[in-house]
Amino acid sequence: MRLLICKNYTELSLKAAQIVAGQVTMNPQSVLGLATGSTPVGMYSELVKMYEQGRVDFSEIRTFNLDEYYPISADNPQSYHYFMEENLFSKINIKKENTHILDGKCTDTAKECDKFEKLIAANGGIDLQILGIGQNGHIGFNEPAENLNLLTHLTSLTQSTVKANSRFFSDVSKVPTLALTMGIGTILKARKIIILANGESKKEAVKSLLTDSISTGLPASILKVHSDVTLICDNEACPNF
Ligand code: PGA
Repeated sequence: MRLLICKNYTELSLKAAQIVAGQVTMNPQSVLGLATGSTPVGMYSELVKMYEQGRVDFSEIRTFNLDEYYPISADNPQSYHYFMEENLFSKINIKKENTHILDGKCTDTAKECDKFEKLIAANGGIDLQILGIGQNGHIGFNEPAENLNLLTHLTSLTQSTVKANSRFFSDVSKVPTLALTMGIGTILKARKIIILANGESKKEAVKSLLTDSISTGLPASILKVHSDVTLICDNEACPNF
């Protein structure tokens, strides 16, 4: 795992956007794995700027999002469908039919997850996966547990994630407690991965990621078995060794 330390969130967002733009420029038909949450907001806004300046063309890319709450409808402002529209899709020239987000309103979750896995494979797999890291070390909604799921699945959120995400909701009781998420194996199959961490609240998770051994108690640690992962963190998230 490579470590790239940026002086602040602005620099982290720019670096991450440059990596994504570089991928899309080298292969205009790239398959991107996308993340939501507050971490990638700055990166998306840099990508939108690059698009507006005519420096990158998204017309042929295909995207798969990591996760979505369940149940939730796409027009709910807290959904990740809504987040992607607001932060990226409505602002660039991506084709709607090339974007894929798990359906938070599906009735058969197993079928939806299986369809998603097959669609990723049919598109040739993910070239570049973007990840955030939870305060508890989760990636996607793969929460710390004794056993981790390899494939896309329905999962329960831990109390710590519900609490962390309650900042986006009017009340903690409104945070969904279930989600659909890519599995650890789905993520590891990506050819290249970048994982972003900013702010003091991520410092402990980053420290464990860099210093502890691989364990299902820190799902992000499993990324250490992958041959092309770059952890990009800002000064605040970077532990002092
Ligand atoms: P955040 O979430 O970007 O909102 O901090 C990251 C994550 O939970 O993966």
